[in-house]
Amino acid sequence: MSEIVLDQNRNLRDYENTVKEAVREHYRKMRTKQTVEYNQRMRKKYLTFDKPMLLWDAITKLNDLVDVSDPDLDLPNIQHLIQSAEAVRNDNRPDWLQLTGLIHDLGKLMYLWGCDEDGNSQAEQWGLVGDVFIAGCKLPDTCVYPEFNALNPDMANPAINTELGMYEKGCGLDNTLVAWGHDEYLYQVLKNHPTNRLPEEAMVMIRYHSFYPWHTSNSYSQITNARDDQYKEWVKDFNQYDLYSKCERMYDLDEVREFYEPIADKYLGKGVIYW
Ligand SMILES: [Fe+2]
Ligand SMILES: [Fe+2]
Repeated sequence: MSEIVLDQNRNLRDYENTVKEAVREHYRKMRTKQTVEYNQRMRKKYLTFDKPMLLWDAITKLNDLVDVSDPDLDLPNIQHLIQSAEAVRNDNRPDWLQLTGLIHDLGKLMYLWGCDEDGNSQAEQWGLVGDVFIAGCKLPDTCVYPEFNALNPDMANPAINTELGMYEKGCGLDNTLVAWGHDEYLYQVLKNHPTNRLPEEAMVMIRYHSFYPWHTSNSYSQITNARDDQYKEWVKDFNQYDLYSKCERMYDLDEVREFYEPIADKYLGKGVIYW
């Protein structure tokens, strides 16, 4: 049975006092290299949907990946996925939300076909994980380590370095280039998946769960619209399970698969997913 109970008073995401230099270095590289040009290039390169893999094989592949940007958890990412799902289940929330917990970080699978130069390998994860921001307008001070914002080459471009940058007022998040990483990758893969029946809420949670400057710090109000206000409620609801489920409890995928497999079949079908 599920055992994960959320404690929202835990002091997580403490980037100032974090002792891990690797986390800081991750964000320095991410802020320096994630430009509009990079973002467009990655979409073209990785959104090809030509690599078939079953959901359960994909989940297993995250046994070999530890998220370097996470100051609070050093376990293989598969553990974080199961912990998130079990926390949702423990709260008796809907089955699709439980499944969303189980799959929300599967976009990290990109490391299998990524490389160091693109920042989506085991060694270099600045194009794979971490809090995201919008490429194409001024970086807000609400980003973690805002002192790195000035390192982004786009911030020297007067067509980009303003509040709106290349966007129109109120254009909405779906019309922006959110920094490239596992959120956008999985969203696009599932959007392309013909037997995907996940509700819109789940797709929004998947796409924007790492967008902390927006969902937690309320930046980008010049770009967002009423639709995004609804999105934010959904994403904040999901965030409690993503963040506060982190613990040392280790799971075996086989002990939970029996429970989640019928839910996965219901919302995603039984066939392979094209990555
Ligand atoms: Fe994530
Ligand atoms: Fe996560």
